[in-house]
Amino acid sequence: MKKALITWVTWQDWSYLAELLLEKWYEVHWLKRRVSIFNTDRIDHLLQDRHEKDRKFILHYGDMTDSLNITTLINDIKPDEIYNLAAQSHVHISFLMPEYTWNNDWLWTLRILEWVRNAWLEKTCKFYQASTSELFGWMDYNRPEAWYNENSPMHPRSPYGCAKIYAMWIARNYKESYWMFCSNWILFNHESPRRWENFVTRKITMAVARIKLWLQEKLYLWNLDAKRDWWHAKDYVEAMWLMLQQDKPDDFVIATWVSNTVRDFVNRSFEEAWIKLERKWTGIDEKWYDIETWKCLVEVDPQYFRPAEVNYLLWDATKAKTVLWWQPKYTVRELCKEMVKSDLENFKKDEILKQHWYEILTQYED
Ligand code: GDD
Repeated sequence: MKKALITWVTWQDWSYLAELLLEKWYEVHWLKRRVSIFNTDRIDHLLQDRHEKDRKFILHYGDMTDSLNITTLINDIKPDEIYNLAAQSHVHISFLMPEYTWNNDWLWTLRILEWVRNAWLEKTCKFYQASTSELFGWMDYNRPEAWYNENSPMHPRSPYGCAKIYAMWIARNYKESYWMFCSNWILFNHESPRRWENFVTRKITMAVARIKLWLQEKLYLWNLDAKRDWWHAKDYVEAMWLMLQQDKPDDFVIATWVSNTVRDFVNRSFEEAWIKLERKWTGIDEKWYDIETWKCLVEVDPQYFRPAEVNYLLWDATKAKTVLWWQPKYTVRELCKEMVKSDLENFKKDEILKQHWYEILTQYED
């Protein structure tokens, strides 16, 4: 049985990856930082059987800032595969916390590689580094039709992108210097009902659900023109795993070839909740109205603009398609539908629960 180590597992992608690896009969070891809440909502369904004798989903308390702790773990576990997903992955927050982002996203990658070498596992342990389309960042406006692939020039536009470029290069360097199996995976935005609310898609679908249920008045966004290749995180963890099943390490761009604006995603999400919108004004005055009630439901709030932005990139994932035989299964429409549906159900459940408690409590009132 293969052993995999996932650095952090309580987030969206990592929870899907853990599910996939368990389906494939891996023994999955995962790290959890010590925080004052357990925050395992996304993997609680995997933890249900944790008292069973032959458990395959093993929690370790671990923190990337604690070298002794992780060295001991890597020595004890002797993983066949390490998926390095630990990162401060929010682009906007990286402008607010550049040093923290640097430590998380670059230094930790270097540390893991060294820990693997110190445990004499460099010839047996495959290492996966989560990289990002943010490395390419800057669009070449002289060639707006250009498709980006693994060999395109890089020009990150945020502290997050800069830290990730170092992480990618240190993994490449360890591959060349020590013949380690290190693969980088350069991907676009990956979403799902488990996405954290401060990424734009989930912010939108949660707001749509709340607005539909009269729990929120309006949705405030900023750059509605930004284009992204959004796809389902489930598709993307499959590609992650495939990369480490290859004979040779390599870097891959993972994308679906389809881009949509934030504005498209907003419209599609409201349509999924049977609300039709009409636009008035453009630029920072842009507003969207419900065509039945003429209430303004979406507005631009410029205070959140990023100091530098990635507006648009076109991706060529031919290599992933031909080498890994990877193909996304979900379309952006299906993704959006699943997210809105799930958020509507969650908020409805909350409301029913609140109503239930309200009825119980009011029974005791005079
Ligand atoms: N978060 C957010 N919130 N973004 C908004 C909003 C808003 O209210 N309004 C507009 N946007 C725009 C952002 O300016 C950006 O252009 C786009 O929507 C997507 O923003 P995010 O969802 O925050 O994702 P991201 O593209 O910056 O980064 C994500 O994808 C990268 C891969 O391309 C993250 O998952 C990164 O970790 C990942 O590397």
